[in-house]
Amino acid sequence: MIFSERLLAELKKAGNVAVLTGAGVSAESGVPTFRDPGGIWEKFKPEQLANFDAFMNDPDFVWSWYQHRREIMRDVKPNKGHIALAEMENVFPNFNLITQNIDNLHFRAGSKKVTELHGNIERNFCMKCRTFYEEVDLNEKKVLKCEKCGGLIRPDVVWFGEMLPVNELRKAEESAANADVFFTIGTSAEVYPAAMLPIIAKRAGAYVIEINTKPTAISIELDEILTGKSGEILDELLFKIKKIRN
Ligand code: OAD
Ligand code: ZN
Repeated sequence: MIFSERLLAELKKAGNVAVLTGAGVSAESGVPTFRDPGGIWEKFKPEQLANFDAFMNDPDFVWSWYQHRREIMRDVKPNKGHIALAEMENVFPNFNLITQNIDNLHFRAGSKKVTELHGNIERNFCMKCRTFYEEVDLNEKKVLKCEKCGGLIRPDVVWFGEMLPVNELRKAEESAANADVFFTIGTSAEVYPAAMLPIIAKRAGAYVIEINTKPTAISIELDEILTGKSGEILDELLFKIKKIRN
């Protein structure tokens, strides 16, 4: 992969680097994306399962779907892309990783600071008293009730029609606005407000790079497009970054 002189110059001097990731960064780990052929939306209609009414109508069914997805996600491993991004945290003075993914792979790869815009499938909370439940037995196929108040326990993920967590969104917007360099990686940039972040960064003067296997809805607005698999490109990029920054 050829990285432009401009990109390397920007990365050499950057103090604030922010990254937005989407399902594509986990594709090389074997987690299906949403909108690619063979993606989750071809098999299920998440709008019908990942929403409040579906859960209230048939909590056991929706719960068992999430338990199934957890089984898939716990079986996969972080890839070179997740690992490179975890290392970049140690390279740049201020590095902000923002993800739309709920698969927990950034944390598992060693990232310490991750802004999760759409929640995390490994977490659950009681809908009545908001007690959090992190460790859940995957054999529990029926929805769980809160030990404290008996309320229904739901996954801590953003469902269709729900707002993004306010603090996370604010933090992500701030990171985008303050970035010297901003990467948008493995996301189709079709779902807002996350898709707005690269544009916020661009308008605030950041150098904005997209890493994706194909063009997206916002490619044309950005500074540099790196076409290929994010795991491979990020691994090579980290190697370059370490060379130019010491
Ligand atoms: P999408 O499935 O919409 O997009 C995945 C992107 O990854 C596409 O642009 C692919 O071209 C790209 N891609 C696939 N394999 C790749 C690879 N190896 N390397 C680099 N890029 C690759 O997924 P998202 O953009 O993450 O929200 O979807 C955004 C949101 O839509 C999700 O967070 C989810 C869904 O509604 C919620 O559940 C709230
Ligand atoms: Zn409770």
